[in-house]
Amino acid sequence: MVLPLSLLLLGAAASAGAHKSIQWSLVQNGTTGIVAVELITISPTLMLMYDRDDGNPLLLPDGSQAWTALWNLDTNTATPLSTLTDPFCAGGAFLSNGTLVSIAGNTLENPTPVPGDGRRAIRMFGPCTSPTGEGEGCTVFEDPANLQIAVTRWYPTALRIADGSILILGGSNNNAFYNSGSLAEDSFEFFPTRPGEEGTVRPSKFLLDAEPVNLFPRSFLLPSGHVFVIANNISMVYNIETDTELMRLPALPNGVRISNPFDGAAQLLPLFPPLYEPTVLVCGGSTADDSIPATSLTTQDLATKQCSRITLTPAGIAAGWEVEEMPEPRIMVESVLLPSGDVIFINGAHSGYAAYPRVNGSQNTGSNSDNPAMRGIVYRSSLPHGQRLTQDGLPTSNIPRMYHSSAALTGKGNVMISGSNPHPVVVQPPTTLSFPSEFRAEYLNPDFITNNSPRPLIHYSPSQIGFNQKATLTVTIPRSLSAGDFQVSLMDMGYVTHAHHSNSRLVFLEHTLHGDVLEITAPPNNYVYPPGPAWLFVVADGVWSEGVQVMVGDGGDPPRPDQGVRVRIDSV
Ligand SMILES: *[C@@H]1O[C@H](CO)[C@@H](O)[C@H](O)[C@H]1NC(C)=O
Ligand SMILES: *[C@@H]1O[C@H](CO)[C@@H](O)[C@H](O)[C@H]1NC(C)=O
Ligand SMILES: *[C@@H]1O[C@H](CO)[C@@H](O)[C@H](O)[C@H]1NC(C)=O
Ligand SMILES: *[C@@H]1O[C@H](CO)[C@@H](O)[C@H](O)[C@H]1NC(C)=O
Repeated sequence: MVLPLSLLLLGAAASAGAHKSIQWSLVQNGTTGIVAVELITISPTLMLMYDRDDGNPLLLPDGSQAWTALWNLDTNTATPLSTLTDPFCAGGAFLSNGTLVSIAGNTLENPTPVPGDGRRAIRMFGPCTSPTGEGEGCTVFEDPANLQIAVTRWYPTALRIADGSILILGGSNNNAFYNSGSLAEDSFEFFPTRPGEEGTVRPSKFLLDAEPVNLFPRSFLLPSGHVFVIANNISMVYNIETDTELMRLPALPNGVRISNPFDGAAQLLPLFPPLYEPTVLVCGGSTADDSIPATSLTTQDLATKQCSRITLTPAGIAAGWEVEEMPEPRIMVESVLLPSGDVIFINGAHSGYAAYPRVNGSQNTGSNSDNPAMRGIVYRSSLPHGQRLTQDGLPTSNIPRMYHSSAALTGKGNVMISGSNPHPVVVQPPTTLSFPSEFRAEYLNPDFITNNSPRPLIHYSPSQIGFNQKATLTVTIPRSLSAGDFQVSLMDMGYVTHAHHSNSRLVFLEHTLHGDVLEITAPPNNYVYPPGPAWLFVVADGVWSEGVQVMVGDGGDPPRPDQGVRVRIDSV
């Protein structure tokens, strides 16, 4: 029997992992008034931005300078928020009860008004449920006299773990290019603190071994409850309960190093039921020797093109890192996980390093990096090795996005791009320095947003789902998309700063779709998705809906007990 050609093609496409290519476009709209060094997706309409007190044009009602602001995606305007301490280069995560916590930060030399020393700060925001969507009543809460972390940390990572609290990893205590010495910051601690560990830290041999390139250690919660950490050229799996390093993984291939100041990106690729096997993707960074002084590095040193991935199961670890190449080298590259499971790499430069001007060549430009990367790269995670990385469909920008730039997925399903500022103060044109402080906000829009073409729509979703429980949503899938693949994505969009999207996570959910009725099953337990806030998207034939917010778990204060059911997990 001879099959019609169209059927043969359909079959072939499905077995190769059908992949719809998207044409993206950039739209500039509005100015942020502060440099969004940290960018966090808060609600369908709001993004939270943290910066420092260094000459920002955005002013508080009393006329003083703002370093924190809410960005409204509908009006493209910034509203200043007051913050007591300096949040510059903090880490952060949402807790199981929906409060966003920003951890640690900086202290400043000569600011007006003087923000408090931020290095031991705990800043709490929300949940922000303003009825108008404009953020009225949403404020940053701090109590420096009573609420502080145990040690000073600048450039730490904060990761929500399976009990809904935060593991705080690493950081620095000085303003050096390289982080070195026997530092109290080469350690872990928790917020809220664990009984018996109040005011103390857990020293980390791993972070010490990763000196001097160990700031913003990239880390992910694995479906086993353990934590994967990668810093410099080394990575490990950490058992929180026993405070032990379970294993070191093979070194990143070909001498690549990725944490600050050699910022490369790391993402946990989507977790699929039923096994939720975790694969970590690491792209960009540098192959420079970390034992030579900063002054012998130069702004023209090419970054690496390398992307490496490893699956954190016994079989995946035995197979080791699988290496691919991006079309271009990248340092300080932001990685944005999309509801489809693909990843966009954007911002950063082709050469040089992160951090304030120190390397050879930065004396006149004020920037450790040069040769801005003006065009994004997409990583098509469902395609086979060798076919995943392309710049097809990505536009070329005319705005350099260097050190201290950011990019995040919004609830609308596009990518907001903001920053940068490689200089220690706000630098505005005219100037002889390169890359003046950048306040223009930009959006990277997929073609279905640009063209306003039919998208799937979530009409109704419960505001809370319990682990391993079923929930019923009502959706509309446009007829034009109904023949393609259909996925339900549960996402944490993370806390974006310094090429690290900590807490970024996508779990594809089991589901059945009958007409407009979508029945989903929440992740089996709090190890697959740590309890706390999430976004739900539906993806039909490669086109995603706008996201809706949902609380996963019981929404209580951390620490939460285990929830859901234990399932077979191969993850280490
Ligand atoms: C910029 O945003 C404003 C507010 O949403 C909108 O009215 C305007 O059309 C936008 N401009 C462009 C060029 O998209
Ligand atoms: C990582 O880099 C250091 C140099 O900083 C080197 O001594 C070490 O052998 C590398 N680690 C591995 C596991 O290759
Ligand atoms: C800095 O770069 C210049 C030009 O390439 C070179 O002549 C000089 O030796 C470099 N300085 C250091 C300290 O490496
Ligand atoms: C969430 O939990 C933290 C830690 O216990 C607490 O400080 C905060 O007030 C809680 N948030 C809400 C909204 O209750």
